[in-house]
Amino acid sequence: MIRIRTDIPGPNSFKTIEQLRRKNGGWAVPFPFVHSSQGNGCYCEDVDENKFLDFGSQVATNPFGYNHDEMIAVVKKYSARHPLKFAGQDFIVPEHLNLIDELLSISPKGMDAGFLVNSGSEAVENAIKICMHRRHHMQFSVSFEGAFHGRTLGALSLHHSKSLHRRGFLLESNKELPFDDSAPEVLRELIETNGADKIGFIALEHFQGEGGYRIPSSMMVKKLFVLAQKYNIPYLADEVQSGIGRTGKWWSFEHYGITPNVFSAAKALQVGAVIAPKKDFPDEAGSISSTWGGGHILDMALGIKTIEMIKRDKLLARNNKMGSKILDGLHKIEEISNPRGRGLMIGFDLPDSHIRNMFIIESLQKGLILLGAGERSVRVIPPYIVDQPEIDEGLRVISEVAKKVNSNGFESYGKICEFMDCGTTHT
Ligand SMILES: Cc1ncc(COP(=O)(O)O)c(C=O)c1O
Repeated sequence: MIRIRTDIPGPNSFKTIEQLRRKNGGWAVPFPFVHSSQGNGCYCEDVDENKFLDFGSQVATNPFGYNHDEMIAVVKKYSARHPLKFAGQDFIVPEHLNLIDELLSISPKGMDAGFLVNSGSEAVENAIKICMHRRHHMQFSVSFEGAFHGRTLGALSLHHSKSLHRRGFLLESNKELPFDDSAPEVLRELIETNGADKIGFIALEHFQGEGGYRIPSSMMVKKLFVLAQKYNIPYLADEVQSGIGRTGKWWSFEHYGITPNVFSAAKALQVGAVIAPKKDFPDEAGSISSTWGGGHILDMALGIKTIEMIKRDKLLARNNKMGSKILDGLHKIEEISNPRGRGLMIGFDLPDSHIRNMFIIESLQKGLILLGAGERSVRVIPPYIVDQPEIDEGLRVISEVAKKVNSNGFESYGKICEFMDCGTTHT
């Protein structure tokens, strides 16, 4: 159960946040509390002994919540070893092979090679390189309105989410397609005007994350895919946020019955990965590499365990079941609009971004962690172990806070906004 003992942030959190705010060069406006590493299941505790219900799963990176027995067992197994982190492309450990094997076991037929890296951006970056290295005439790539693919410069080139992320950086050439059913027609025009060989690749999130938790229609995806195939344009699926079972299938592109040429994974996997047919990777040894990629034993062991547990406990089906319950509950809350989702990747909308931000802040004050996305959406992405009592508790907080939407009766949020920028959404 949620337990809120102090203002948020509490005094102990406040001290650390205040110092870190001054010293952290990349201050990204965090949630205003400091984890104590205590907590269990879907609940985490802060250093002021507040206990939050986490419906944000550390931005989809934490599918098994806090202090799960089996995850702790993995951590213990490796606790007496050093180093835990190897230069994994040059010095191999067994976990490297085991994780790639697990990944390929959940990937479509024909996807017979994986490459492990350190983050989602690095996964996208390498997926881009796999697409590009044989596209000798390419002049630009294609991605979509609202797209978020990471913050390294290659991945950032595909970005059409917040302008803040791109401002001031020199990027690769890219064209933006609308994120709706008109996209295939716009792509066709691009092909006709420029020639297909000028298009390096098409990159798509099959459940758009940061840009607003939007689900592309079947028609949009299928037509885009058919065009890409017809003109041999590599098709890149970014599964960093939506992959590893969150949407009730291993990969969100599976909802469309397609297999991309290459796809990225990270977040819930604990490491970054890019997956494609072996024949499509560069032939030259070392053409793609990464010092630590495939070398962090603990991360890989946790990734292996994650996939094993999803398989063993049939969590794809369970995520669908639990997700439907959450969606049913959200549909009953009048003040919110457009509840939508697949599996445990769920979003809803509020009238505008100010109300959305107040909504998230007020939910946090009541002990429920929710994340924003896009202009005015809220993400509901609990860990895969979420069960009826947590769903009831989370929905209770959401419906309580929702009552304030029409009256705009949000309470003063005190210190919270010093840390949580009202315009900030989390990737
Ligand atoms: C769809 C998508 N692609 C790429 C990334 C980048 O991942 P990372 O932050 O691990 O570099 C993210 C998240 O940040 C994401 O949501």
